[in-house]
Amino acid sequence: MAGGHRLCSQILGFIHALQFLCSITTVHGKVPQSPVECSSSGCILRNSYGAWGDRRDCSAINVTYPTTEEQLRSAVSYAVRNNLKVKVVTKFSHTIPKLACPQSAGATLLISTEKYDSGIEIDAVNMAVTADAGVGLRQLIDAVESEGFSLVAAPYWEGVTVAGVISTGAHGSSWWGKGGSVHDHVVGITVVVPGSRSEGYAKVLRLEAQDPMLNAAKLSLGVLGAISKVKLSIEHRLKRSITYNFTEKEDLIEDVYVEHAKKYEFADITWYPSRHTVVYRYDSRVPLNASGDGLNDFIGFQPNSILISESVRAAEKLLERTRNANGKCLTAATTLGFKKLVGNGLKNNGRMFSGYPVVGYQGKMQTSGSCLYSTRFDTSCAWDPRIKGLFFYESTAIFPASAFGDFIRDVRKLRDLKPENFCGVDNYNGLLIRFIKASSAYLGQHEDSVVVDFNYYRANDPSDPRLNQDVWEELEQLAFFKYGAKPHWAKNRKVAFLGVQHKYPKFDMFIAAKQKMDPQNVFSSEWSDAVLYGKEAEKVDGCALEGLCICSEDRHCSPQKGFYCSHGLVYKEARVCRYLQSSMSPSSTIA
Ligand SMILES: Cc1cc2nc3c(=O)[nH]c(=O)nc-3n(C[C@H](O)[C@H](O)[C@H](O)COP(=O)(O)OP(=O)(O)OC[C@H]3O[C@@H](n4cnc5c(N)ncnc54)[C@H](O)[C@@H]3O)c2cc1C
Ligand SMILES: *[C@@H]1O[C@H](CO)[C@@H](O)[C@H](O)[C@H]1NC(C)=O
Ligand SMILES: *[C@@H]1O[C@H](CO)[C@@H](O)[C@H](O)[C@H]1NC(C)=O
Ligand SMILES: *[C@@H]1O[C@H](CO)[C@@H](O)[C@H](O)[C@H]1NC(C)=O
Repeated sequence: MAGGHRLCSQILGFIHALQFLCSITTVHGKVPQSPVECSSSGCILRNSYGAWGDRRDCSAINVTYPTTEEQLRSAVSYAVRNNLKVKVVTKFSHTIPKLACPQSAGATLLISTEKYDSGIEIDAVNMAVTADAGVGLRQLIDAVESEGFSLVAAPYWEGVTVAGVISTGAHGSSWWGKGGSVHDHVVGITVVVPGSRSEGYAKVLRLEAQDPMLNAAKLSLGVLGAISKVKLSIEHRLKRSITYNFTEKEDLIEDVYVEHAKKYEFADITWYPSRHTVVYRYDSRVPLNASGDGLNDFIGFQPNSILISESVRAAEKLLERTRNANGKCLTAATTLGFKKLVGNGLKNNGRMFSGYPVVGYQGKMQTSGSCLYSTRFDTSCAWDPRIKGLFFYESTAIFPASAFGDFIRDVRKLRDLKPENFCGVDNYNGLLIRFIKASSAYLGQHEDSVVVDFNYYRANDPSDPRLNQDVWEELEQLAFFKYGAKPHWAKNRKVAFLGVQHKYPKFDMFIAAKQKMDPQNVFSSEWSDAVLYGKEAEKVDGCALEGLCICSEDRHCSPQKGFYCSHGLVYKEARVCRYLQSSMSPSSTIA
C-alpha cells in the first residue's frame, strides 16, 4: 500500500506544518465575518461560504444599516429618488445562488438588516410573533421559548435571519400541521416597496393573512421589496423525542418514506448509498412534562478545530488528485461510524450523548449552529472561507411526493454499478431526505413534497474536474430533468435552475405581484433574474464542470484533463463529464 503510505505521510507533513503555523500566528476569534466590506471605491458582498468566486461580481456603491422601519423606508426612498437599484442583504448571507448580488452595470445601494434586529413582539392571544427582518433565528426562538411558546418550523441551521429564511423557502421537515417550511407559518408581512413621487418614493405595505399579495411576499427571493417585519404563528411550548435508527435495511426507503413522514411529525431519512446504510429519524412531540433537557447540537454545525478542517480538506484534495475513490470510502466509513457513536450531535443533558431517545424542548431540538458562536481562536465553522477548510456544492431537489420512489430506485441502480462512486457524498451527509407540505406561496410547493440534499467536493479551481464528476451530474440531471424536481432557491448550481419558471404553476401570479409591487425592477439584478427565470448561460469551455451548463461538446468538460461529454449510465439522456482513460478513445462522446 505504497500509495496509502504516501498519502499518510503527506497528511502528517501537512498537519505538522499547520501546527507550526498555528503556533506563530494569532488568529482573531473565528465568529463568521460580516458579508459586506466597503472601501472608498464601494462595497463588496460576499457569500458566507465564499461560494461566489470573483468578488467584482457582487459590488455596490454603498451600504446602509437602518435600525427602524422608518429608516428602512427612507433608504428605499433615497434609492428610488436617485435611480439606484437596491439589494437587501443580511448579516449572514448564507444563500448560495447570487440572489442578493447587485446588477453589474449601474449603481446599487445595499440595505443591510444587520442592525435592524431588535424588535420581537409576542402576541399571546393570537399566538403569533412579529419580528424585525434582521432578527436571527436563534434570537427569535429563545425569545419565543422564554415566553412559553415554540416556533414549530425552522431549517436545521440557525445562522439565518427571519426575512432571509422565508425569502428562499427554507424548511425543516414535516408533513404535519402547516408543514416544515417557515414561510407556511407566516401570517403577516410588512414590506417597503418603491412608490411614486407623491408617496415619497417608497411606501410601506402591511399584508395580512387574507391578502393574496402575501402569497407572493412570503417567499419572494428578495425581488419584491424590502421586508421590514415578519409575523409568524407560534404554538404553546413543546417537547420532542428523537431517536436515530442506523440500519442497513436500505431497500425499504421507497416503500416506507410516505408512512414514515406520516407517523413522525419531524421525520427525516438519511441515506448513505456507499455504506448501504439508512438512518431513520423517529422524531415526535412528547408531553411537556416528559423528562429530558436534551440538545440537538448537529455535528456538522459544531465548531471544528481549524487544524482538523484544514487537514480534512487537504486529504480530500489529495484523494481527488490521486483519483482515489477507495480512500474516500475509508473516510466515509469513519465519518459515519463517528456520527453513529455521537448520535449525530444529540446531547441528552446538553453536554453529551448517552443513548436514545433524546428528549428536549423544541427550541433546542429543531435547529442548531454552535460553530457560529465559537470564541476560541482555533475553531470555526468547517466551511469558513478564511481557512483552507471544506468547500463543497449543495444540491437540493424538491420532488412531488409521488415521484420520489422512482428517483430512489434510479439512484440505487446508479449506486449498484459501482458503490464506491458514492463515497464522495457519504463523506458529507449522504442523501438527506426531508418533507415539506403543500403551500399557498406562489414560489412554494403546490403539493406535498420530498426534498433531497446532497453535498459533494467542490474544487478551489473551477477548471479542475472532480472525482466522480459524472455521477454528481447524473444525479443532478436525474432529479431536475428526468423527475422535474424543483431546485431549493437557496442552494444548487446554476444548471438546476434551467426552466424553473415552468415548474411552478403559479409562477405568473408571482410575476404579476412583482410588477405591481416593484414595476421598475428596483430590487432585481441580472443575478436574481438568472435564478428566477432559469435561463441557460452561454456555453463556454469547461462550463459543465462548475454546473454552469450541461455539456453538449467535449470542450464544455475538460478534454485536456481526460474528461469528455458522455451519456448518463442509468439516465441515458443525461449529458455528463466523464473521465475516460487516455488509452480509450472517447467513443461515447457526443459531437
Ligand atoms: C450550514 C447551512 C445549513 C442550511 N440548512 C438549511 C436547511 O436545513 N433547510 C433549508 O431550507 N435551508 C438551509 N440552508 C439555507 C438557508 O436557510 C438559506 O440560505 C437562508 O435563506 C439564509 O438566510 P440569510 O438570513 O442568510 O439570508 P441571505 O442569504 O442573506 O438572503 C437570502 C435572500 O433573501 C433576501 N432578503 C434577506 N432579507 C431580506 C429583507 N429584509 N427583505 C427582502 N429580501 C431579503 C436576500 O436579498 C436574498 O435574496 C442552510 C444554509 C447553511 C449555510
Ligand atoms: C455611503 O453612505 C454613507 C451614509 O450612509 C455616507 O456617509 C458615505 O459618504 C457614503 N459613501 C459613498 C462612497 O457614497
Ligand atoms: C430500524 O429500522 C429497520 C428498518 O426499517 C427496522 O427493521 C428496525 O426494526 C428498526 N429498529 C428499531 C430499533 O426501531
Ligand atoms: C404528565 O402529566 C400528565 C397529566 O397532564 C400525567 O398524567 C402524567 O403522569 C405526567 N407524566 C409525567 C412523566 O410526569
